[in-house]
Amino acid sequence: MRTRNDTPTTSTTAAPSRRLTALPTYVFAWLDELKAEARARGANLLDLGIGNPDQPTPPAIVDAIARAYADPRTHGYPPFRGMARFLGAVTNFMKSRFGVALDAEREVLCTSGGKEGIAHLVMAFADEDSIALVPSIHYPVHGRAAPLVGAQVELLPISPQNGYLPDLDAIPASVARKARLLMLNYPHNPTGAVASLGFYEEAVAFCARYGIVLVSDLAYSEITFDGYIAPSVLEVPGAAEVAVEFHSLSKSFNMAGSRIGFAAGNAELIDALYGVRTNMGYGTPAAIQEGGAFALDHVREFARPVAKRYEQRRDVVVEGFRALGWEVNPPAATMFVWLRVPTGFDSQGWSRHLIDRAGVVVTPGNAFGPGGEGFFRVSLVAEADVMGEAFTRMRDAGVRFARD
Ligand SMILES: Cc1ncc(COP(=O)(O)O)c(C=O)c1O
Repeated sequence: MRTRNDTPTTSTTAAPSRRLTALPTYVFAWLDELKAEARARGANLLDLGIGNPDQPTPPAIVDAIARAYADPRTHGYPPFRGMARFLGAVTNFMKSRFGVALDAEREVLCTSGGKEGIAHLVMAFADEDSIALVPSIHYPVHGRAAPLVGAQVELLPISPQNGYLPDLDAIPASVARKARLLMLNYPHNPTGAVASLGFYEEAVAFCARYGIVLVSDLAYSEITFDGYIAPSVLEVPGAAEVAVEFHSLSKSFNMAGSRIGFAAGNAELIDALYGVRTNMGYGTPAAIQEGGAFALDHVREFARPVAKRYEQRRDVVVEGFRALGWEVNPPAATMFVWLRVPTGFDSQGWSRHLIDRAGVVVTPGNAFGPGGEGFFRVSLVAEADVMGEAFTRMRDAGVRFARD
């Protein structure tokens, strides 16, 4: 047992790596602490901060997984690239949904979700002297994977003024020449911004000019509203030379807990991703891949009702904030609404204020990079009546949007 006087001057445990400790604070951890403190004080919180789907995986998909798992042939290690059944369903989906023809054996790979796949691809291409180009507001893994392997991040300013799309022409040639990766994610978490095929054409041309890997994160391809249909970067002629696109089954089919997605695109990029993955793990369980294949085979049937539900919730949130005096642009996609914080607050101060005053949890915008300061994100992860309750609480607490 240690006494007060034998405190060691040096720790006996190794310190975490400099790369890990140098990462900026994870604002989500700060928010978790804030929530825990509020709950310890007895607060009953309405949590609109998390991005975790609140609905269950459709029963028919669960049945497909259960049936597959009952077969002992699914109990061994799955093949590294994925099961032929899943890869076949992916190529059918890419063809029927986007008109993109892919070779199931060379241009597709099953991942345990988009997040892990993106981190592995960054590991495959980022060296210490290279740069990853990342929009100044981004889903955290887009900006954190490169520093974890010692590479640098160059933030590309995005804002409401440019529709949250980076100006690729503004990137200095000296930076572009050192860049290995360009990270794009449209429909965009957290802003809900979308990109046109025209923007993707520019991005493909830019990446081809400088020999940059274009990474597109299409996690919200099916969560779109008002008739909007999200394109794939792979629809652009020439994209097959430079791009790899990450898809996720987490949001379209409420399968976040099953950890399944896929990468599609250039065969050499997919090979490099495969190279990292063979050194690190095995992949998604075969039974889950069977369920994923079933889900993709019936994408319209399963994903439309999911999107419809988010669309209804979006409408409640947009109306609710408008009634409190906010200017809101209804997003055409994703499960988020992105808003400015009122004058006099920074992002984290505003989150704290809403928790303390109204018991409502929102995510501070700076959780998504420095460009997100001055904004906050509301996740559409509760039913419309619960969302309505959040507005009643905010109104009763006297929360209003104040302009200068
Ligand atoms: C933009 C984006 N990419 C990837 C992910 C993670 O997807 P997955 O569950 O497939 O790892 C999320 C989850 O919130 C996301 O918002």
